[in-house]
Amino acid sequence: MPQVTFRKGEEAFSEEVLDNTNLVVRAGIKKFPWPHLRYGCGMGKCGKCSCRVLDGAENLAEPNWKEQKVLGEKLAEGLRLACQLWIHHDITVTQDGVPIPGPAKP
Ligand code: FES
Repeated sequence: MPQVTFRKGEEAFSEEVLDNTNLVVRAGIKKFPWPHLRYGCGMGKCGKCSCRVLDGAENLAEPNWKEQKVLGEKLAEGLRLACQLWIHHDITVTQDGVPIPGPAKP
């Protein structure tokens, strides 16, 4: 099972999750990484779930069109939308210092 590590400040919260886990869905049902994960719409629109992938980015699927629309150039800086990620491998993420991008323009 994939190990997810969520770094917040000096702390690191880790937990094994089922394959194909979505962190925002987990947060929505009050499971890890709730209450640490910042998120909003859960649909790739608001950008509140923006996170920096510190480790394991190479195992993620390519950014989808929602991430491209919301994050744009920030994708190249290692940002992803947590609500658009389905976890299959170990990953470490943080939202420290990650700004919330404006909502995607229609
Ligand atoms: S929760 Fe709104 S874009 Fe991810």
